[in-house]
Amino acid sequence: MPRQRSSLPPILVVDDEPNMRDSLRVILCDEDYEVETAESAEQALGYLDQGKREYFVVITDGRLGGVLNGYDLLRRISRDWPNLPVILITAYATPKLAVEAIQAGAVDYLSKPFQPEELLHAVERCHERHQLIRENTDLRSRTSQVYDVEHIIGDSPKMQELRQLIRTVGPSDANVLILGESGTGKEIIAGALHLLSRRQSRNYIRINCAAIPEALLESELFGHETGAFTGALRLKRGRVEDAEGGTIFLDEIGDMSRPLQAKLLRFLEDGSFTRVGGNDELRVDVRIIAATNRDIVKAIRENEFREDLFHRLNVMQFRPIPLRDRGTDILILAKHFLKMHCYTQGRQMLGMAPDAERKLLAHPWPGNVRELRTVIERAVILETGPVIRTTSLPDFEVEGRLREVETKSQPRPDQSFEEAVSSFEKSLITQALEENHQNVIRAAEQLKMTRHALRYRMQRLGLLHASEGEAASESA
Ligand SMILES: Nc1ncnc2c1ncn2[C@@H]1O[C@H](COP(=O)(O)OP(=O)(O)OP(=O)(O)O)[C@@H](O)[C@H]1O
Ligand SMILES: [Mg+2]
Repeated sequence: MPRQRSSLPPILVVDDEPNMRDSLRVILCDEDYEVETAESAEQALGYLDQGKREYFVVITDGRLGGVLNGYDLLRRISRDWPNLPVILITAYATPKLAVEAIQAGAVDYLSKPFQPEELLHAVERCHERHQLIRENTDLRSRTSQVYDVEHIIGDSPKMQELRQLIRTVGPSDANVLILGESGTGKEIIAGALHLLSRRQSRNYIRINCAAIPEALLESELFGHETGAFTGALRLKRGRVEDAEGGTIFLDEIGDMSRPLQAKLLRFLEDGSFTRVGGNDELRVDVRIIAATNRDIVKAIRENEFREDLFHRLNVMQFRPIPLRDRGTDILILAKHFLKMHCYTQGRQMLGMAPDAERKLLAHPWPGNVRELRTVIERAVILETGPVIRTTSLPDFEVEGRLREVETKSQPRPDQSFEEAVSSFEKSLITQALEENHQNVIRAAEQLKMTRHALRYRMQRLGLLHASEGEAASESA
C-alpha cells in the first residue's frame, strides 16, 4: 500500500552527478517521497533562499562540483535553517569523515556505497523529527493569542480602573476569576494578565470548558494513560502539562461538571493531578485564570458550582462592566474597530455620521464589545460612501423592544436602586429615539419633555457624544 505522504514537504537532493541524482530520486520516489534536485550547493542555496518551498530534509554529497562543497552547504544550512536536517553522503567510511560530518551539523551520514535501506532509514528518522517539530509548532499555535493591556480600549473610569488592576495583579501569581457578560472582554483580560506575569515567555493555554464534551474534558485537562478508556490508544499528556511554568485559562468554568470541579480543586491546592487511568501523582507549576458569564452566585446556590472551588479561584476578581454602562467608550471602541476593519478590508478610513453615532450610543448592546465589533465590520462592508451612515447599521429596533420587556419586568438582582432607575430611563429614551429615527426633537415630543431636558438626560446616561454633551449641558 502506498504510504500517505501528501502533507510532507519534498526532499532536496544535491549532487553534481546526474546518475547519482537519478538513482536517489528513484529510491525515494518509490517510497512516495516527493523529490527535488539541485546540481550544486549554490543552486540548492538559491532554492532555500527564495523560501518558496519548504523541504523536510536535504541530502547532499560531500563533494560537489561548484565553489562550495557539501560541507560548506551543511554549515550554511545549520546556521540559517537550523530546523532543516541534512544527510551527508561521504566517499569513504572513515571515523574522521563521520566526525567531521556530524560536527558540521549533519543529522546523519552515509558512506558510499550504501544500501537503499540505509538511505531510507535515515530519511525516515528525519521524517519523524519533522513531525515532532510540526506538532510542537501546532502546540504553540494552539496556545491562545495574548494582548497587551494597552490594547484594552476604553477611557471610562471603570475601564481605567480595570487596566490599573490588571497591571497590579498581572505580575503576581494569584489565581484570578473573571466574571462578566458575554463579549465584555474576559478573554483579553486573561491574556493581558499572562503577558504581565513572570510566566509570559511560557505557554498560555486556553481551555473552553463549555466547548469540550464533558467526558473528554478531564482527559484534555489532565491527560490519560494508554487504554484508560475505549479510544485511548496512546498516552496523552494533559494540557496542564503543556502549560508548565505558564498560565492556563479555564474559560466558561461555570459549565464544568461537579466531579471535575472536585479534581480541579485538588489541582488548585498544590498543582498535583493524576492522568485518567493512571496511578502516579504528577505535579506542575501553573497559574490559573478562570472566567464565566454565568451568574456564579446563583450556580452555587443551586448546587451546580462548588463554593470551595469558587473561593479558591476568587483570590482576585475582575468584573468587566457591560458595554451599555461604559458611556462614550462605545464610540471610542467603534472608531478602533472601524480603523481595524478598514485596514483589513483594504479601504480608506471611513468617518462616522453623527446620527450613526447616536444610534450606536442608544443601543443596549446585549452582545457587548463583540457585538459592536461585528456591527462595525458589517458596516464597513456595506457602506459605499465616505462615512458610516445609519443605513449601514443594523435595525436595532426589534431587538430593543425585546429587551424593553426584560428590563421593565425584572431589574437585575445585583443592581442598586440608582442603577435600576438609570437603566429604565435609558431604555425609555433609547426606544423613543429608535422609534423616531434618532431625531431628538421628535423623541422629546413623544416623551412629553423639552428637547433640552432630553439632551441633558441623554448626556447623564452616556447617550451623547462628548462634544454634543457640552452643548447639552450649556443649554440645560
Ligand atoms: N476593551 C476592549 N478593547 C478592545 N477590544 C475588546 C475590548 N473588549 C473586548 N474586545 C474584543 O471583543 C471581542 C470579545 O471579547 P472577549 O472574547 O474577550 O469576550 P468574552 O468576555 O470572553 O466573551 P464570552 O463570554 O462570550 O466568551 C474580542 O474580539 C475582543 O478582542
Ligand atoms: Mg470568552
